Amino acid sequence: MARRYYIHTFGCQMNESDSQRMGEALKRSGWDATAAAESADLIVINTCAIREKAEDKLFSALGRYRLLKAQRGTRIGVAGCVAQQEKDALLKRAPFVDFVLGPDHLDKVSQLVEQGGVETDFIDSHQYLFPQADAETSRGRATAFVTATKGCDNVCSFCVVPYTRGREVSRPYAEIVREVAGLVAVGVREVTLIGQNVNSYSGGCTFADLIRRTASVPGLLRIRFTTSHPMDLSPELVRCFFSEPKLMPHFHLPVQHGADTVLERMRRKYTIAEYERRIAELPGKIALTSDIICGFPGETEAEHEQNLEFLRRTPYDNLFSFIYSPRPHTGAILKMAEWGEVPREIALCRLEEVQALQMARTLQRHRARVGSEVEVLVEDRGFGRSRENWTVHFQGDASVGDLIRVRVESASLVALRGLQAGVVAKAPPAEAPPRRRLAVVSA
Ligand code: 5AD
Ligand code: SF4
Repeated sequence: MARRYYIHTFGCQMNESDSQRMGEALKRSGWDATAAAESADLIVINTCAIREKAEDKLFSALGRYRLLKAQRGTRIGVAGCVAQQEKDALLKRAPFVDFVLGPDHLDKVSQLVEQGGVETDFIDSHQYLFPQADAETSRGRATAFVTATKGCDNVCSFCVVPYTRGREVSRPYAEIVREVAGLVAVGVREVTLIGQNVNSYSGGCTFADLIRRTASVPGLLRIRFTTSHPMDLSPELVRCFFSEPKLMPHFHLPVQHGADTVLERMRRKYTIAEYERRIAELPGKIALTSDIICGFPGETEAEHEQNLEFLRRTPYDNLFSFIYSPRPHTGAILKMAEWGEVPREIALCRLEEVQALQMARTLQRHRARVGSEVEVLVEDRGFGRSRENWTVHFQGDASVGDLIRVRVESASLVALRGLQAGVVAKAPPAEAPPRRRLAVVSA
């Protein structure tokens, strides 16, 4: 029987996609996936380092998996951003870990399982090759992530990503379009182009051009992308929202803070006036979402008020807000003594104020849809997403990949609920899987 692997993924879409690539590499080496860590011969934890809390999750997971190792000899690997950040120090802290694998080396996972060790050197940007997704992994799904860039060349002073993911590299557009076509052939109808700073894409064409080339894949219905930096929002990309029908009216454009003085300390390279000028160009019906950090070093009461004031006048559809978490190597941690740490209780109060403000608004926006119809791409039985990326639960018999209309009957903070009211497009039959070659055993 084939040996079995289990991958535990923390963090962002990039990590989800990386876990899929690692799974594919393991399959090519004869491993099978299992849905239960208890029955695995190998557990890989794909980690996130964006905030300290995310990092803590690694160590509590390791505590659990260590027992499995003691009981059944399970091999344990740590991949992702904490692996990249800690390198061999991780083996000192958790000596029962068999291998440590940085995000540039996903294809080496099978090799490292056998030989153990640490593989965390960054690959030179000019030599980096993006792993190609195996479309079969996405068979039976309506949506898929497609990597467009990796790494980040910005130096936002709170962010550890440039240190864990390295320099920004763009994937050649032909590779991306080929991957999208392969995904559509197995039934995928929506792709999200992903990258830490995806709108600074430069893989042989502009990002807007990449969207248009992706849109030209027949059978693809929807395109999204994430995450973007406001400084890389080009007029051409803005025009795409007006002219490209497959590009969904949802834009995640993190502002991080509403006060210029904080933005400067964060090294975000724009002012609030510039940000507002840019978003004013976007189509009115777009669902704009953002990230906010509360309690950034030196944040005064007046700056927090400016943040709230900005949020009150900016009609965000949704907001992801966080308490600042000091990260190793970053600009802000080095300046902490000079700028001053915001006490945790104060940061928490400010976060609650930001969240209360947004929650009321999100709820109001969701409720305004009650009685109307939304177009939903079905991702699972009774579940899908609207064009604006709202979660929709519905009653009806639509299958995965169908594009339907749902009449909204009720709304909560996190989702709309309703009844299937019609079908816009049935999912076409997916191409048959390639036939497995039978192994020839010679006597
Ligand atoms: N502390 C808190 N939030 C952070 N983010 C990134 N780094 C930190 C940090 N050190 C948030 C930013 C980013 C989102 C993915 O996570 O808002 O946009
Ligand atoms: Fe981090 Fe800034 Fe790069 Fe986003 S743009 S990944 S916040 S450094």
